[in-house]
Amino acid sequence: MTTHVTVTDEAVASLRDTADPRLRELLSGLIRHLHAFALETRLTQAEWERAIGFLTETGQTCTDTRQEFILLSDVLGLSMLVETINGDREAGATESTVLGPFHMTESPVRELGANIDLVGGGEPCVVSGRIVSGDGTPLPGALLDVWQADGNGFYDVQQPDVQPPGNGRGLFTTEAEGRFWFRTCVPSPYPIPTDGPVGELLRATGRHPYRPAHIHFIASADGHTPVTTHIFVAGSDYLDSDAVFAVKQSLVEDFTPTDDPSLAREFGIANPFRHARFDLVLEQRS
Ligand code: BEZ
Ligand code: FE
Repeated sequence: MTTHVTVTDEAVASLRDTADPRLRELLSGLIRHLHAFALETRLTQAEWERAIGFLTETGQTCTDTRQEFILLSDVLGLSMLVETINGDREAGATESTVLGPFHMTESPVRELGANIDLVGGGEPCVVSGRIVSGDGTPLPGALLDVWQADGNGFYDVQQPDVQPPGNGRGLFTTEAEGRFWFRTCVPSPYPIPTDGPVGELLRATGRHPYRPAHIHFIASADGHTPVTTHIFVAGSDYLDSDAVFAVKQSLVEDFTPTDDPSLAREFGIANPFRHARFDLVLEQRS
């Protein structure tokens, strides 16, 4: 007969015919930890029902352009933990951070130097650098997928009636020396979406929803491990209290005020402007 003492072992044993050993390992661990959690907190029936209701609402909030489950994983710190476990890189390689829920549409292919700010929403800036291998060798033909919120803190997919699709997004290919450069506006801090169950959770726990100003990147090149990362604007609010725990010191970059008419002309931007320069270092696949 099943009792609360035996149910955990019975539930784990029920997985004995699972063909995939990794699936069996994951589900066994999940059962054991969930059961331990319920025992430790003396979870009540009402609390269990509330949790089921919360998860149901989380699923029902997901659409083609909104991923409330990723958001939940993010605010619980799980996304960052998984990222860290799997982001072990050789010294010097660019550190990774969370993907976030807004990389849900393909970035439009753009020429180097293009402006991804299609609506002129903020302070103009240039982002430039190189994609290089761990030993410093430039990587021509590497891909740089970029996405960011507009000057008001919204992604294009959040405001389909306001922003043109592809605003704040671009897919760039590095030139012969591994260089990339593009124009955009300096991002600002913004709140993660709070009009769903995750927002309810933040309010119930007295947490703010803000992320420090950042631009997202996925850099990839043949023979190298791709990196999913951000750069954060040095001096931004919330660098010390990111709602999704994603800040790493190595990813904080200066967006330097620059007054240089000839450089501005070279980049096709009005002078003065802000300039963020950094290299993305990819680990060579062994
Ligand atoms: C983002 O930076 O796009 C993001 C990341 C995690 C949660 C919400 C938004
Ligand atoms: Fe973001």
